[in-house]
Amino acid sequence: MGWSSWLLFLYLSWSFFFSRTHESQIYQLQLLLQLRKHLEYPSQLGILESYNGDLCNLSSSPNLGVVCLEDTVTELKIMGDKLVKVSNDFNGFAIPNQTLSESFSIDSFVTTLTRLTSLKVLRLVSLGIWGPLPDKIHRLYSLEVLDLSSNFLFGSIPPQLSRLVKLNSLTLDGNYFNGSVPEWLDSLSNLTILSLKSNRFNGQFPSSICRIITLTDIALSHNHLTGKLPDLSTLSSLHMLDLRENKLDSDLPGMPKELITVLLSNNSFSGNIPGQYGQLNQLQHLDLSLNNLSGTLPSSIFSLPNISYLNLAENMLSGSLPNHLLCGSKLGFVDLSSNKLIGVLPSCLGTMLDKRVVKFGGNCLSVDTQNQHQESYCNVANEEGKQSRCRAVGILVAAIAGAVLVISLLAMVAVFLRRRYRSGRTFEQNIISKVEQDNILTGVSSEVLANASKIHF
Ligand SMILES: *[C@@H]1O[C@H](CO)[C@@H](O)[C@H](O)[C@H]1NC(C)=O
Ligand SMILES: *[C@@H]1O[C@H](CO)[C@@H](O)[C@H](O)[C@H]1NC(C)=O
Ligand SMILES: *[C@@H]1O[C@H](CO)[C@@H](O)[C@H](O)[C@H]1NC(C)=O
Ligand SMILES: *[C@@H]1O[C@H](CO)[C@@H](O)[C@H](O)[C@H]1NC(C)=O
Ligand SMILES: *[C@@H]1O[C@H](CO)[C@@H](O)[C@H](O)[C@H]1NC(C)=O
Ligand SMILES: *[C@@H]1O[C@H](CO)[C@@H](O)[C@H](O)[C@H]1NC(C)=O
Ligand SMILES: *[C@@H]1O[C@H](CO)[C@@H](O)[C@H](O)[C@H]1NC(C)=O
Repeated sequence: MGWSSWLLFLYLSWSFFFSRTHESQIYQLQLLLQLRKHLEYPSQLGILESYNGDLCNLSSSPNLGVVCLEDTVTELKIMGDKLVKVSNDFNGFAIPNQTLSESFSIDSFVTTLTRLTSLKVLRLVSLGIWGPLPDKIHRLYSLEVLDLSSNFLFGSIPPQLSRLVKLNSLTLDGNYFNGSVPEWLDSLSNLTILSLKSNRFNGQFPSSICRIITLTDIALSHNHLTGKLPDLSTLSSLHMLDLRENKLDSDLPGMPKELITVLLSNNSFSGNIPGQYGQLNQLQHLDLSLNNLSGTLPSSIFSLPNISYLNLAENMLSGSLPNHLLCGSKLGFVDLSSNKLIGVLPSCLGTMLDKRVVKFGGNCLSVDTQNQHQESYCNVANEEGKQSRCRAVGILVAAIAGAVLVISLLAMVAVFLRRRYRSGRTFEQNIISKVEQDNILTGVSSEVLANASKIHF
């Protein structure tokens, strides 16, 4: 090959590459403009209006981000401003000023979206997107981060999502997803963040989640989950567990050692606080308030090296804490209020130490007695005794009632037989004399009484 053909070859391949790049730039820009139309021209995409530069050179803002790898869009982030949800009764139809309009089609929107085939990160937040999430979202097979928070998505999470095996973060907070949390989540074997807060999920906490050992964050708070929370000890990377405001009602399960934040308040957990929680050495934030926990407190949770926030309020915790209880040096907030604790308040929780906020009202402690109950209120053993005594009394009452019933039945039968024997005359006489008696007693006519009763009932 001579010099000239070399040059020609170089020129051709360069121009081919350039035009390919250029074409794909134009194509991607077209896609983005289509998405903008689907989303009904949100102000965050206003910059595209007269944009004719390189899409991959679009300057990022907090509300809009486009990132490319070799001229192909790999990240798209649009943060809308449709934040406020005025009504909580979304029923699957467009709501003016909150969702996109009635003519929005989530199906065509996602079809356009899936043409950005190389997307690794997709965040579409607070844009008023409404409808059931289409199955075809799985065509974005490179996705590693999917965040569709604060929209109006409903129905179940599409099963095809299990094919997005590269996902490491799935965030669908603040939507209207319902049905159960899928059992297939363990197909997402690289998942680190699972956040499905504030939806309408019901049913049980899927035990398959315990097999996703890469998880660092699980947030399923503000849903309607019921039943048992399985043992989570296998999740050795888990740092954050947030299951607040559900209806979970088992005993508290074992927890992995790396946990930093555990939020289980406002459920129906019962039984004791496991002693194992006193060995969670990374734990900083433990909230078990508003449950039905009973038994005595493992004192080692107060002295955990990193614990700073400990909320055990509104349970049925009983017994007393040792006076010489040790508190961790980072412990700044302790709430023990509305339990059944007795005895003294340990000195490390004393109110003298102003570096620590301690709440303890509504127990039977021998401090600040004004805000404490009588000791009998907290006497759990007593209460159990009372319960069994109640049961005994109940049985006795039932037996007596039964006997009385049988005797009165017999008496009625006897009276009835006698009446039949003596004819109806006496019966009428009884009625008349009863009415006369009433009038004498009350001084009002039976007619007035009858009317009055009509008015009041
Ligand atoms: C990208 O933007 C910078 C300034 O923000 C500009 O200097 C550069 O020429 C642009 N590149 C392309 C390929 O458009
Ligand atoms: C929608 O929002 C705009 C501006 O925020 C407001 O002026 C208008 O009254 C709202 N309409 C309805 C139906 O709420
Ligand atoms: C999982 O993540 C690791 C590193 O984060 C990566 O090397 C690996 O390829 C991922 N696996 C899948 C199936 O994407
Ligand atoms: C989920 O919500 C939609 C819309 O409100 C409703 O039609 C559907 O029956 C619900 N499904 C379940 C399983 O609750
Ligand atoms: C507890 O949860 C219920 C709903 O399950 C909610 O109505 C209530 O406000 C919550 N209580 C607190 C103190 O957060
Ligand atoms: C709390 O537990 C007790 C038994 O320990 C049970 O009788 C009671 O019904 C439970 N209360 C709630 C609200 O779950
Ligand atoms: C917890 O405390 C230990 C020792 O006190 C320290 O080495 C570790 O970094 C702390 N962990 C966190 C998450 O702060």
